[in-house]
Parts: sequence; C-alpha cells; structure tokens
Amino acid sequence: MCGIIGYIGLCPEQNLLNGLKKLEYRGYDSAGMTVRREGRFETYKEVGQVQNLAGTVVYKEEFGIGIAHTRWATHGKISIENTHPHFSVSGEVALVHNGIIENFEELKEKNKDVTYLGQTDSEVVAKMFESLSINSLRKVLKKLVGSYALALLSKEGDYLYFAKNKSPLYIAKGKECAVIASDPSCFSGLCENYYQLDDGDYGKISLKNIVIYNKNHKIVEKTPQKLDFNYLSEDKSGYEHFMIKEIYQSRLALENIIEKYSHSEMKENLSKIKNYNFDRVYLVGCGTAYHAGLIGEHYLRENINIDAYCLVASEFKDSNLLVDNNSLCIFISQSGETADSISALEYCKEKGAKIISITNVEYSTIAKMSDINLPIFAGQERAVASTKAYFAMCAVLFILSNYLKGQNYILPLKTLSHKIDFGNDISLKKLAKTLAVYKNLFFIGRGVDYVTALEASLKLKEITYIFSSALPSGELKHGSLALIDSNLPCLIIATDERQFAKTLNNASEIKSRGGKLILFTSLFVEKDVEENFDYIIKITPLPRDLMPMQIILSLQKLAYFTSLEKGNDPDKPRNLAKSVTVE
Ligand code: AGP
Repeated sequence: MCGIIGYIGLCPEQNLLNGLKKLEYRGYDSAGMTVRREGRFETYKEVGQVQNLAGTVVYKEEFGIGIAHTRWATHGKISIENTHPHFSVSGEVALVHNGIIENFEELKEKNKDVTYLGQTDSEVVAKMFESLSINSLRKVLKKLVGSYALALLSKEGDYLYFAKNKSPLYIAKGKECAVIASDPSCFSGLCENYYQLDDGDYGKISLKNIVIYNKNHKIVEKTPQKLDFNYLSEDKSGYEHFMIKEIYQSRLALENIIEKYSHSEMKENLSKIKNYNFDRVYLVGCGTAYHAGLIGEHYLRENINIDAYCLVASEFKDSNLLVDNNSLCIFISQSGETADSISALEYCKEKGAKIISITNVEYSTIAKMSDINLPIFAGQERAVASTKAYFAMCAVLFILSNYLKGQNYILPLKTLSHKIDFGNDISLKKLAKTLAVYKNLFFIGRGVDYVTALEASLKLKEITYIFSSALPSGELKHGSLALIDSNLPCLIIATDERQFAKTLNNASEIKSRGGKLILFTSLFVEKDVEENFDYIIKITPLPRDLMPMQIILSLQKLAYFTSLEKGNDPDKPRNLAKSVTVE
C-alpha cells in the first residue's frame, strides 16, 4: 500500500505534508520526507502517523523540490531505517515507493557489496541508482519484477522522475507547481487538471514541462482529467471523526444514487447489462465489499431466476468455478484498487466473462478494466472502516437486481431515504459502554440478516479489537454454543418475519446457558419475549429488501461508539490501511 507524493514549488515542506495527510488512508506505520535545498538533502523521518512527522519538520516558505511517503509495512519492521525516502549508495538520489518488488532478494544478491540500512524492497531499488536520468531510470525499471509507483529526486536538476506499474500514480501541473501523487486528492488547492499514468509509464516533470514515456519507450501525450471537487472530502465538517461523518453521509449517497440512476446514462448501463447473454453471475469483493456482494447475491437470487454466487476475491481463482463468456462477473470495490479483486478480475477477463464493476472511484483501475462501471456516488471515504460505501454498494445492487427483474427501484429507495434510521444515540452509547468490557462477542442472524451479522462483526473487530464471530443462528448449536457463558454476549439481528420464530428459539437456547442477549430488530416483539433480552435496539421497519441498508447504520454506530469507549482512533485502526494494493 503506502502513499507517495513529489512536489516542486513554493513551501515544499507544507505542501508535501498536506499531501501526506490526504494519503494517510494508504498506511500510517511511519512517514518521511526529503527536500532539496542548495544541492543538499534535508530529510525527516518519524514512526507512526503523519502528525508525528509534522511536528519535526522545519517549514520554509521559499521555492523547493521534494518527495514524501506514508508507509504501510510489508517488508521489514516499522522503524526509522525502513521509513522512506531511501537513498542511492552515493546519497545523490532519493526515492519513495509504493508497491512490492517481488525479485528484491535476487537483486540484493547481485549487489553484494552494498550495505543496506533496513530490510525493505524499496531500499534495494534506491541502491540500484548511481545517478538520475531517463536512461538510468529505464535501466533500473528493466530489472524490476512487481508493482511500483516511484518518485525520485536527485541533488541537482529541475525534474522529479516517476514510474508506474500496477500501483496508482497521477501527475499534475499547476500555475506555479508540479506534483506527483498516489491519489489525485493531493492536487486539490494546487492544480485543476491531472494526468493518470498507465502501467509501464515513466518520465519526468518540472515546472516547465512533463515528459511521459509508455511501456514501449515512446513519448506519449495524455488527456488531462478535471479534478472532481464534489468527490473530495477535505475535512470532518464538525464531526469528531470521518467515520461518523461518513455514516451520516449514507443519506446523501442514497440521494445521489437516486438522482444519477434516474437519468439516461446509468439507465443505459443497466440496459446494456440486461442485454448481455449470461447464465450465471459471480459477485466478487474483499472485506466489506464482499459482504455487499453477499447482499447482492440475495437480491439477485430472489429477483431473477439465475444462479448468483458471491466469493471472496482472494479465493476466486482457486475455486475452480466455471467462468466463461456466459458468465457475468460483478466486481465490488470502494477504492477500485484492491489487488486481490484486480487479480480475480484479470482472471475472469481472460476467460471471456463480461465484467461489471461497482466502485466509488470512477477513475480507478477496477472501473477502467471493466466493460461497464456502476458508480456508487458516495463521495470520498476517508475512515479505514467502510460505512457509506457499503450502504451505497447495497443500494446499487438493489437497483441492478430490480432493473433486471423489470421492477421500479426509485420508489423503494425514496422510501428508504424518507424513513432512514440512524439509531438512537443514547441507547447505542449505553450498549457500547457495556460491550467495551467484553473480550469476545457473537453476532447471529438468519438469511440476509446473517450477512448483516458478518458486516457488523467485521466493523466491530476492525475498530474495537474485540474478537467477534458471525454465525447463522441455526448453526450455533452445531458447535459454537459450547462457548456460551456469561462472558460471551450474543447480538442477534432479526429483520425477516419469516425467520423470526426460529431465531427466537435460538435466542432461548443461548439464554438457558447463561448467555447475555442483545437484539437488533425491526420486528414486533411480544412483551414476554422482550424479557429474555438484556438489550433491545428497535429499528424503523421497511420492506424486507431495504432492511440490510436500514439496520447496518445502527450497527456501524455501535462499533464506532464502542471504539470510542475503548479509547481507540476509529478512523485509523491499528495494522490496517484503507486501500489494500497487495495480494
Ligand atoms: C472495510 O471496513 C475494510 N476496511 C475492508 O474490509 C475493505 O472493505 C476491503 O479492504 C475492500 O476494499 P475495497 O472496497 O476498496 O476493495
């Protein structure tokens, strides 16, 4: 993962730091920066979040050129030695890298005389440079196997150098600055247009010009793209964290979806999908996006008479499923840059399947690789825990399945928008206080509520570090019931009337073994049944298909409040990064 930025212009330290803050979602194990002044490098490195680095930098208002990096550790421990930038043997060239160099051990072997300060694959690349020019860059790139977005700087010359392969990289020129970055959000406030690099591209950028070579070593002209300021999320808008802001933005995302999918462009996309010949559907994603896929699987199975299977992306290729030109493969990804999903997508493409993507980033790799992209219009998500994107993915899958069945999808979504229920803060905070002292938790549900249980459990684990497991309610008695005692609360999700009686039986089985019971439900609960539960959180009822979107909001907030109770930073959970660009 990791985020890289390069900058030429006034106030380089401040501008590099602003960029790093925007890239922090890509990793926050350590951060570093090198700025050149009068032929000398000034370097700063700190372990931990970008704010640690911010405190040590000497900010200068004059013109300068520099590169910076925020790290999510893959090779080598979290330490100053492994923090980028890394330098060539002579110290003349500085480099920042995002990606994984697969043959770095081999390259290290070939360079036996070199002393390495740390254990990263990136340092091995830095040590391969003697000087910096297009030729030396080309020579080094030829030897690399793996993924990289590189930004390089030398002690002389007007240019920053760059290269891209399978890791995102963008470049832009403003009136008085030039920027290279892992994400176009870094250009905001500096440049209005930017260029997206393709795999194999490399080149150099100065205040005066940009030179880009493609993988065939030919100079290429790229079409500039306009920065989408509506998509960007610059601040917390008065909320304490991005996560809670983003949970509440689910309503806005829904309104955007209703608006966009009422118009011809999105309707044409849906109609093209309907006209494809396919006899099976695969939904593919990771983590939260995978859970949205499972909701989609329910929608498609109920609405259209077709086989729909949802799989985790990292398992897809090894599942030996029949994928051919009669398969419709739907890739679901907030970032559109998740390596496991990209790899599964490449596999499906090779097999001749039709590729649909459901993403939040329209210029992302997954969106670009697909035949049709169905955007979720949720706006930038900054918190590592995905919330509004999950909600919006479910809404787009709802639209797709209803469209394929020939049913109206706007009216039900408008109903959801009018009756949307973000839960009662007082009850949720009280419950969060109770849950924060436990070490383990079960989430159970039946049918589509089991999928909600999976997503609620992931959210809780991710930001509270409480171990939790999600199970189909009926499955508990087949083994896991052995764990139930007064130290293991069980949170039951029930929105489907058809399953409720059986779920209540399962609840009794837990109760009679001394387990604590929490119920999240939109259904009517009899007084005598209510007494079985330690907590009941009531959610405004809606038609069954809309309930996965309605109920998840309170469960996301429960995870958020529990994380606060535990004193965690819900926006930046330990060990994680938002965009997972390694397999
Ligand atoms: C969500 O809370 C997680 N951080 C994670 O599971 C995420 O959904 C997963 O890594 C997939 O990301 P994507 O949607 O960008 O592909």
